[in-house]
Amino acid sequence: MNFELKTFDISGAANEKCDALIVLLSQSFKPGKDVLSVLVAHALKAGDLETRPGKSGRPLVLYRSEGVACSRVVLAGVGDGSAKEVRQAVAAAVAAVKGSSVKKLTVCFADLPREDAVRAAVMAVAEASYVFTTTKSKPEGRVIQRVVVGLSNSPKVKPAFDRAVAAVTGIEYAKEWANRPANHATPTLLAGAARSLAKLPNIKCQVLGPKEVATLAMGSFLAVAQGSDEPLRFIVLRYDGAAKSEAPTVLVGKGITFDSGGISIKPAPEMDEMKFDMSGAASVLGVFRALAELKPAINVVGLIPSCENLLSGRAVKPGDVVTSMSGQTIEILNTDAEGRLVLCDALTYAERFKPRAVVDIATLTGACMIALGGVRSGLFCANDELARDLLAAGESSSDLGWRMPLDDDYAEGLKTNFADVANVAGRAGGAITAAKFLQRFTDKFPWAHLDIAGTAWKSGTAKGATGRPVALLLEYLLTSANPYK
Ligand code: BES
Ligand code: MN
Ligand code: ZN
Repeated sequence: MNFELKTFDISGAANEKCDALIVLLSQSFKPGKDVLSVLVAHALKAGDLETRPGKSGRPLVLYRSEGVACSRVVLAGVGDGSAKEVRQAVAAAVAAVKGSSVKKLTVCFADLPREDAVRAAVMAVAEASYVFTTTKSKPEGRVIQRVVVGLSNSPKVKPAFDRAVAAVTGIEYAKEWANRPANHATPTLLAGAARSLAKLPNIKCQVLGPKEVATLAMGSFLAVAQGSDEPLRFIVLRYDGAAKSEAPTVLVGKGITFDSGGISIKPAPEMDEMKFDMSGAASVLGVFRALAELKPAINVVGLIPSCENLLSGRAVKPGDVVTSMSGQTIEILNTDAEGRLVLCDALTYAERFKPRAVVDIATLTGACMIALGGVRSGLFCANDELARDLLAAGESSSDLGWRMPLDDDYAEGLKTNFADVANVAGRAGGAITAAKFLQRFTDKFPWAHLDIAGTAWKSGTAKGATGRPVALLLEYLLTSANPYK
């Protein structure tokens, strides 16, 4: 999909040649004498259009209006013009014309929008029109091909617009890989995707296989991978936009391409959804895709430990003790708590980059999904400044997080008589005990953990990847350059 920013107001919008024109109206809109304004004024007066905050659900569709070049016009209220209202209004407006063959869409802000409103509009059009086609025999792809965003203060919002368009590219790259079924997204194929990203500006990629990972002594990662015939991959991506002396931010994405649970096997219902267990990895790929568009002056490293979690005669067994790259021994009491086992070795590997911060992203626990649902990702971070930056990035990109506790008392249950640490504690506080496990491998750098188990995909009829938290991560990387204490 191709986005373009243009300068025009509601009177100019009437001359735009396109298949559908969405006009967004805030509660402070004052209709003028132009043809669209007159239509809006009538609709408002008749009560067929609502611009008050919280009421922007129902768009009004007009067809072949006199004096308007575009045959389909959708009027939609956006209340106070907040990102949330714009997002809802655009989603409803796109849905209202979705059945018709709208290839070229224009979205016009009738009055001056805030920066985050422009971003919300771009993201909402992309979201509402996305279709996954890779594994369909007769792909019916996305209908909307061109989107023009029109507003009168376009130069001022150009940077926000560019950022939003890049975010969409990254989000859709993440969705593509997360949506692919496990047989179309093996660790090797994921590594192939990372390699192809290295053709883009400033990006380099290195892929390690089982031998190299064994040489690094990543005994924990190897233990998860050993039950599958599909070879593991450890993906190292670099985005170098600043001087070598600038400490990089390291993103670590959980890349379990299928999680059966292993010998501690999962129940059958919804097990297909465990193809999404590499959504953290997909979000890292998506961020790199977006960085290549924006070329910011920063350094970023992406680490993806990727393998399948399966059962076989070689699979790791409950009670097995393995030695992680850090030297700490781990008793694997539950083979379904595999995410932390691949992440801990990747976190130790991250030390060599002397990072300014390390953020891991993982569909780590069902418990986090129960705690926060699909609205906010769980944020675990002992560094207040880093936590604040990540939460703020989530707010401004409408990709929300929520801070969770990390008290040492939560680590009690990880104690065992047979190793330095066990990989699971009891059921209580499961998202937190998982984070406490990871924290043991992070004393060399400021660290944050995002549990995206609830936010990375949707279930039911709308089943599919969300591309979260690409927007949050990208916003974080672009807005915070400060070193952490
Ligand atoms: N990938 C799952 C977490 C998950 C489950 C995400 C359901 C989204 C929906 C993870 O590997 C896992 O199985 N975690 C276990 C941990 C438990 C054994 C301590 C869980 O959450 O049940
Ligand atoms: Mn699991
Ligand atoms: Zn998992």
